[in-house]
This record gives sequence, structure tokens and C-alpha cells, in this order.
Amino acid sequence: MTQDELKALVGRAAIDHVVPGSIVGVGTGSTVNCFIDELAKIKDRIAGAVSSSVKSTERLVAHGIPVFDANEVESVPVYIDGADEIDHRGHMIKGGGAALTREKIVADLAQRFVCIADASKLVDTLGAFPLPVEVIPMARAQVMRRLAALGGTPRLREGVITDNGNLIVDVSGLRITEPLAMEADINQWPGVVTVGIFARHRASLCLLGTPEGVRQLNF
Ligand code: A5P
Repeated sequence: MTQDELKALVGRAAIDHVVPGSIVGVGTGSTVNCFIDELAKIKDRIAGAVSSSVKSTERLVAHGIPVFDANEVESVPVYIDGADEIDHRGHMIKGGGAALTREKIVADLAQRFVCIADASKLVDTLGAFPLPVEVIPMARAQVMRRLAALGGTPRLREGVITDNGNLIVDVSGLRITEPLAMEADINQWPGVVTVGIFARHRASLCLLGTPEGVRQLNF
């Protein structure tokens, strides 16, 4: 099976975790695009979606799925999103698509985070994928110095402005053995909007696409 076929497989499997009549939290990325296309087939059975990016909103709207502003929604039963890496405890690196801030906001509204990913995303220790950090432009240089002091190699993502008008710095060379602590630390630096470690908002379930079928990892 190709990686695209594995993404389609978990995008379909995620439909079983949609709560009928509810507003669904919808993430961002190529795996979630497969999920959105499946969601369109059952759109009459849901109230709508709350979206984590302009791109996902556009795809939802194109399918005729109502999209609610996050401020109108107090809670959603489930948030479905992909990941760049996920470990065996449900901690993730996210933000490869630059949508990490809105993803964390919607994840915060959700009672459960269901991660959909192909098998290549499962790792023992987070950090091989460069860690995305969304930064207010004025703080770019100072935040990059701090990230370098942690032992990483920060690089500005050229030509990318987030949906919130900020920059993305990608940090390679980190071995993230304490995701919860590192998330809390980086998040409180002045000028950091969001760090792409999802430990506090980790997954409760991962639907992992493997050549043998969908593997369920409960955390
Ligand atoms: C978007 O900012 C990311 O967090 C995505 O969820 C992540 O990059 C996974 O994307 P793919 O499904 O395209 O691999």
C-alpha cells in the first residue's frame, strides 16, 4: 500500500469516531483531507465542523459542511487530526502544515483527540521531524537563539506566514524525551505563540494505517 492509500484508510476509519448530531473538530493536512472527503458523505448526520485552518475550512465549505467559529462552540466530543510524529504515549509533533496554533485551540475544545496517521509517523522518541514553533515576527531572532541554546538547529520556514500572521521556525536536532516539560517551557517564552509539541493535548486514540490494516493505539 502507498502512503496515500494508508492516509485514505485512516481517513475512512475515523468516521466511526464521529458522534452523530455533533460538531466535529477538524484538523489540517493531507490525512485530514481524506477524512473531510469521507465526512462529506455523512454530512446530513452531523451538525457541522469547527476547523483548524483556512485550508480545511475551504474544503469543508466546498463539501457543503457548515463551519462554526471556535468562539461559538463550547466543546466538541472529538477532534480528528493528523500528526508529523506520534510516540507510544500519544504525544505528538504537529505543525508541518503551519496550522499548529489553531489545531491546539480546537484540540483544547475537544473531549477526545483522535489522531489519524500512516505507520511512518509512529516513533519511539519525538524529534527526528523538525519541531515547528509559531513566533511573533518581532521575537524571531531571540526565540531562535533560545532554541539553539536548547541544543537544536532552528531554521526560519521561508515564505510562510501562518493564518494568524506569524512566522514558523523549524528546529531540527532535538531529542524530545520529556515532551510535557519541553512544551511548557518553550510555550512561556515571550513571542512564542505555540510550540508544535502536543503533550498536554495528546491523543487519546491513534488510528494508525499499516499495510495490514488500521491499528488502534489507545493512550
Ligand atoms: C498541520 O499543521 C500539521 O499539524 C498536520 O496535522 C501534520 O503535518 C500532518 O499532516 P499530513 O497528514 O499531511 O502528514
